[in-house]
Amino acid sequence: MLDFLSLILFVLPVYVANGIPVLLGGGRRLDLGKNFIDGKPLLGKGKTIRGFAAGVLTGSLVACAFAIFYPLDWFMIASCSKAKVFGFFFTEPARQLLGGAALALGTMVGDATGSFFKRRFGIESGKQFFPDTVVFLAVALLFAAPFVSASLFTLENLVFLFALTIVLHPATNFIANRLGLKKVPW
Ligand code: CTP
Ligand code: MG
Repeated sequence: MLDFLSLILFVLPVYVANGIPVLLGGGRRLDLGKNFIDGKPLLGKGKTIRGFAAGVLTGSLVACAFAIFYPLDWFMIASCSKAKVFGFFFTEPARQLLGGAALALGTMVGDATGSFFKRRFGIESGKQFFPDTVVFLAVALLFAAPFVSASLFTLENLVFLFALTIVLHPATNFIANRLGLKKVPW
């Protein structure tokens, strides 16, 4: 049986990190305005240093709060043999905090990586591109994998997480657009 609630709580740092740059982004570009060898922007004007940092920090903050107040089974040590190596210093709250921070960092790295490839395909900043919907989640899960118990990575859990993201990403972008926070509804 899928544990929907704990999966949603697990993935929350990803959604927070992905959403917050729309509110807090701006200023200097992450690619510092540089072009790639193809003459197109490296990442483009949609990726800023402040947006990246705000995503990582707020996502990590959410992870920190959950690590303290709401331990999630996905970070249990029993199912991870590496814990023996790290021993006492690598406690479950620490795993949950680091895992959540890794999710947030992975989200922003995935988001920027997506933009890198988008620019290579000649798609302008802000234009619709289906991989935008899921690439950040895939990279976030990769980054967090060392801290997460293997039991998370079942087919049904992954299908749920990706399906939820495919539904929520356009929905939240549409709402952000209607609220005047985002120029385009995707
Ligand atoms: N944003 C930011 N810094 C980031 C990521 C996002 O400042 N690292 C802000 C930008 O204002 C951006 C908005 O959040 O326009 C929406 O993010 P996103 O949809 O990821 O960027 P796009 O503008 O669509 O650009 P791209 O085509 O490169 O994805
Ligand atoms: Mg976009």
